[in-house]
Amino acid sequence: MAQLIDGKALSAQVLQQVAADVALLKAEYGIVPTLAVVLVGEDPASQVYVRNKLKRSAEAGIGSREHRLNRDTTQQELGQLIEALNHDPEVHGILVQLPLPSQLDEDVVIASIHPDKDVDGFHPLNVGALAAGRDTLVPCTPQGCMIMLNQVYPDLSGKHAVVVGRSNIVGKPMAMLLLQANCTVTVVHSRTQNIAAVCRNADIVIAAAGRMELVDADWIKPGATVIDVGINAIEVDGKRKLIGDVAFDSVFPVAGAITPVPGGVGPMTIACLLLNTTRALKRQLTAHPDKASVAVAANG
Ligand code: GUN
Repeated sequence: MAQLIDGKALSAQVLQQVAADVALLKAEYGIVPTLAVVLVGEDPASQVYVRNKLKRSAEAGIGSREHRLNRDTTQQELGQLIEALNHDPEVHGILVQLPLPSQLDEDVVIASIHPDKDVDGFHPLNVGALAAGRDTLVPCTPQGCMIMLNQVYPDLSGKHAVVVGRSNIVGKPMAMLLLQANCTVTVVHSRTQNIAAVCRNADIVIAAAGRMELVDADWIKPGATVIDVGINAIEVDGKRKLIGDVAFDSVFPVAGAITPVPGGVGPMTIACLLLNTTRALKRQLTAHPDKASVAVAANG
């Protein structure tokens, strides 16, 4: 029977660290780390995610700005808002909730966010820095997965990790972080042959395919660690229910450790977003020491 990796409890620890960082930054520089969240349109899942991000920000003492734009927003209008946020000295992190309505080009939007304020870690410069193994702003969900994995394996060196899914948001950056931690990494996807057999070789399986209950017991080596990134919303008796990419009841008796859905990766993603917001501010203060001294001077 598997050990349950409690994302709620772990995220509370990360949020405590964030709150301590916020207090320190406030005391030392008189600056409140502030996150701007941009939501275009009324996608119901995105509305829930944004609400949760804003709620947790407030709890950790992070300042927030909410920008809700209607679904017909043009590329130019969104571009103007991002440009204003890039130049706003009181905004330290910018998050544009994805997916965007179809008239908007996500790649253009992501590239228009200043890399130092890119708390999602999606800007091509940050993606490149991660691939090159440099210190940078790292995507939140894979970062959360690494914290969870470190609970099971303080040293990941030599473990065989299989990442199921190759998205820019999770699969690819996840593979980079695992590689940095000296894992042997395999990425499998919809065109992979014998996918279950490949996963059965793994010490660690990261399920990030976006397919409900794709991974079952046949895919898992006894004792392996399984991290479920899936958040598939279904309606049961008129109520919204979240189902992972892992068939939990099937895998639980086989795995050595497993994350639940909900209460697993989801809370860790939000905690890492806030961690990235304090990191973004610290990087901005280091890159522009004048900003730090101005803030200190203004604060007496
Ligand atoms: N939509 C789903 N996941 C994410 C994420 O990590 N960041 C943003 N900006 N949008 C998302």
